[in-house]
Amino acid sequence: MSAGRGRAAHKQWPILGPDERAATLRVLDRGVLSGASAPETILFEREFAAFVDAEFALLTSSGTSALQLALAAAGIGAGDHVITPAYSFVATPLAILQCGAIPIFVDVDAGTGLMNFEATKAAMTSRTRAIMPVHIHGCAIDIERFATLGVPVIEDAAQAHGATLRGKKVGAIGKVGGFSLQSSKNLGVGEGGVLVTNDRSIVEAANRLRSFGQNVILDDFFDPARPLDGTRALASSRIGSMLRGNELTAAIARAQLAKLEERTEASQRRALALSMELARLPGVLPPQIPKGSTSVFHKFRVGFDPTTSGVTVPPKKFRDVMIAALRKEGLEVVQWQSEALPAHPVFRERQGFGGGFPWNTDPDTDFASIYDLARFPNTTHLLDSSIVLFSQSCPLIAQDDDIVAFYAETFARVWERRFELLEG
Ligand SMILES: Cc1ncc(COP(=O)(O)O)c(C=O)c1O
Repeated sequence: MSAGRGRAAHKQWPILGPDERAATLRVLDRGVLSGASAPETILFEREFAAFVDAEFALLTSSGTSALQLALAAAGIGAGDHVITPAYSFVATPLAILQCGAIPIFVDVDAGTGLMNFEATKAAMTSRTRAIMPVHIHGCAIDIERFATLGVPVIEDAAQAHGATLRGKKVGAIGKVGGFSLQSSKNLGVGEGGVLVTNDRSIVEAANRLRSFGQNVILDDFFDPARPLDGTRALASSRIGSMLRGNELTAAIARAQLAKLEERTEASQRRALALSMELARLPGVLPPQIPKGSTSVFHKFRVGFDPTTSGVTVPPKKFRDVMIAALRKEGLEVVQWQSEALPAHPVFRERQGFGGGFPWNTDPDTDFASIYDLARFPNTTHLLDSSIVLFSQSCPLIAQDDDIVAFYAETFARVWERRFELLEG
């Protein structure tokens, strides 16, 4: 059975069909490829804002740049501390550094992988200017609870298009948030991102920073006959950059967005079915979703509990044996991340932009100590004792019922043989 069900049986993501082709041709026929106020960009921004129930959306060059703009527009700058989880993609703390601010890592909840509230509260100091939680794996974190800590909350919603917290779509529950449109994401377009907010002053600031820090106005004039000759001001008044998206991205994103709700619902149904099957196996921990939250299951992380599984070897060893065995059966399995973020050389060496900036703005904090991996036991445990089913090229959202049933059945078969696999 497995021979016919290997990589070739999976659907590759993103799925690109006649709608995406028509969108691309529409742009080529129009001949307008760029511009903050070009038509596809403006329409995508409106449609995405409506999708996440936000007042404003800005298309950006990537999810990382959306987060960087979100932070900068919220006034985060040199030497400010921003609290963020030790488990995420490295883009989260890099966006903080790009503003000249300093990421302060906190541990996550071992079960969900979501940033821990109590650890965040304990990490707050007089230098804390913002908190940037992550809706990791596409699961909504309780932004409203973090907002009670009294500093702006900036949402890393890169993986979480359409996830909800007590019925509200994530992204703009906090002050401002950023999504990614990178190919593997549930709204996978290539490279791109979206900033969302309900705050007009934030979107106006982000819009300026997105275009060289020039005094552009949000609703700039667009003349299809002269698309590059708008009315925008030319003087730069802030350190902005060129972080805009482009018309091809916007047009393909609109085509994908039209299908996102239906695809998300199907993927959530499949994720729950798979979770139910995996939950029957002793010691297997399917993704945990906190009460009041939904997940769009951008990543499907499965944990192993040594007590109930009966496995006594070190968790990392067992994890690697399971990855190899499942791959051999034709499943897509990845680690996605292998270590807590403070272990990356950029945070261990702290050379920064040169001369140790921005860490050198804060001589009072012992960063070697607060970045010590011993402070993030849940992150380390999570990464050592779990695996991610499906992959970037073949994520869950692309797969049909048959493939997902194959995962449940194959996983159960491999799990049954776990002690034998460890001997081999
Ligand atoms: C949690 C998280 N934050 C930020 C990003 C950055 O997004 P991008 O790759 O579009 O810059 C990603 C995705 O890569 C992500 O998974």
